Amino acid sequence: MCGIVGYIGPRHVKDVVVGGLRKLEYRGYDSAGIATLGNDQISVVKSVGRLANLEDKLVSESIEGQIGIGHTRWATHGRPSDENAHPHQDCQGQFAIVHNGIIENYVQIREELMQKGHTFKSETDTEVIVHLIEDMYDGNFEATIVAASKRIRGAYALVVLAKNHPDRLIAVRKSSPLIVGLGEGENFVASDIPAILEYTRDVYVLDDGEMAVVRRDSVDCYPLNEKTDPAHLVPVQKDVYKVTWDAVSAERGGFEHFMLKEIHEQPRAITDTLRGRLAEDLSSVHLNELSWTEDFLQSIDRIHIVACGTSWHAGLVGKAAIERFAKIPVEVEVASEYRYRDPLYSPNTLVIVITQSGETADTLAALRDSKQKGLRVLAITNVVGSSAAREADDVLITWAGPEIAVASTKAYTTQLVALYLLAVYLGQERGTLAEADRNEVLNALAKLPTVAEKVLDSAPLIEKFALDYQDARDTFFIGRGLDHAVSLEGALKLKEISYIHAESYAAGELKHGTLALITEGVPVIALATQTELYEKTLSNIKEVKARDAFVLGVTWAGDEELQKSVDEVIYLPKTSPLVAPIAAVVPLQLLAYYAAVVRGNDVDKPRNLAKSVTVE
Ligand code: F6R
Repeated sequence: MCGIVGYIGPRHVKDVVVGGLRKLEYRGYDSAGIATLGNDQISVVKSVGRLANLEDKLVSESIEGQIGIGHTRWATHGRPSDENAHPHQDCQGQFAIVHNGIIENYVQIREELMQKGHTFKSETDTEVIVHLIEDMYDGNFEATIVAASKRIRGAYALVVLAKNHPDRLIAVRKSSPLIVGLGEGENFVASDIPAILEYTRDVYVLDDGEMAVVRRDSVDCYPLNEKTDPAHLVPVQKDVYKVTWDAVSAERGGFEHFMLKEIHEQPRAITDTLRGRLAEDLSSVHLNELSWTEDFLQSIDRIHIVACGTSWHAGLVGKAAIERFAKIPVEVEVASEYRYRDPLYSPNTLVIVITQSGETADTLAALRDSKQKGLRVLAITNVVGSSAAREADDVLITWAGPEIAVASTKAYTTQLVALYLLAVYLGQERGTLAEADRNEVLNALAKLPTVAEKVLDSAPLIEKFALDYQDARDTFFIGRGLDHAVSLEGALKLKEISYIHAESYAAGELKHGTLALITEGVPVIALATQTELYEKTLSNIKEVKARDAFVLGVTWAGDEELQKSVDEVIYLPKTSPLVAPIAAVVPLQLLAYYAAVVRGNDVDKPRNLAKSVTVE
């Protein structure tokens, strides 16, 4: 998500920090800021918008020192604004902090600190950390950070600057990445390698739950956990990691393309989207961000889901989940159609708009029309400060982090996670959720990050398939039920980046016309993850096999049946068929990716397409 840079050494700190942030701007571009320590005082300059706005400000506001931290933000808690930009400071300006991640218990800590007299300037979860540090500070910087880390829950990478300790920076990693760049007479901290590559290729990669005390001439790393005794910190021996990537591939975390990086980020993105919403004992879902009254919640009698492209495909899965768990009728429609017809609605219709960017023109128009009709609108979006997030009555954020590749991957899977959480929540609150479903789906959601990780292992088989079929003219994706919804997404992905014609069909529909196109060697990707529909899907697979299609099947590990009827099988790690789309889409994303690569296409920027479609 956000980008972090820290520096201590003889160079001009502003240049090192701003230069590093420039390399990380792809991680967030809602706002940026810098704090330096010089002449016994911490100076902070920050600005909403792109890094260029900060650079403009720095022309007139001089900022000196040889130790500093900087941040480029992708908003999570609190809209993009000057106040919400990092670094944040405590009441007395003794500390400055930059943070990447989410603090789950910030509301509780904030209330406690406010009662003690702390005043907060921002809406962020981050600001509580710096006030907590101020509150706990007893002259020992390291011990204070250890103690504060024990109080905060969630995922974070932090770098802290302290006025009374101008000889060091302290960095802490819990779930969010952080590295220390090792120089001679200088050292660096960053959330990603590109930020420091200009100066050094030697780094310590901080482990989860580790703290680094970074001075000019030394870096000491300490394990940080519940048992850590602040008074007796014992350093660990770290191996130096030598970075061999060039600057361009470093920006993509070593991956060849942003799309591949983003496909691999899905386990993390799913974890972040679940965080704080799924009870630890897996008994319930909490969506505290919704401001619905009990009366409204109970009165919803229809739901309209409106979106475009991939987000619309997510809506199709959302419909199935909401209808099953919450027993509310759901219509799903593409926004460019919805906005130009007169959809039937009741006063208690809930409109859900799904939009990664939060800026898609048709989706925003549907949102505005719905509000004008007096309907309540919930936006599911990936961008906190987007128009959809600002204009909807309620917002569920998907914490996928910035998605750079035009083809959406991690935004789609996190939209699905948000929709499952919403469906369970509605069912749970309205008393319609069957206990067996609740146990099955919540257990499966908790295990999803591991499933998504394992499914990436199918990459070599998919790459081979993409290579063998690179000259295909037409491909077909088939499946029933949820498999059909996912196959629509698989076909769209393949079309948009490989430029191979692809169609998705409900498997049972083929024989009503499309079967005429199935001839020898035509690739058919057949999804068979829905247990209740398995036999029926198998019959449809046999129909295409009988016409000599080349069939790539997708089913669960342990299935022995499918391989008898198809040419190749991708096995998904076993999970509940209820959440199958989140696992099943990953091989389809990889298929599109490898097909585009072998055909030499510009994977991240496919022809004729834009990341955010702000025109009708
Ligand atoms: C396809 C893709 C598009 C978007 C669509 C809606 O990979 O990304 O189909 O899903 O343009 O965009 P958002 O979700 O930003 O409204």
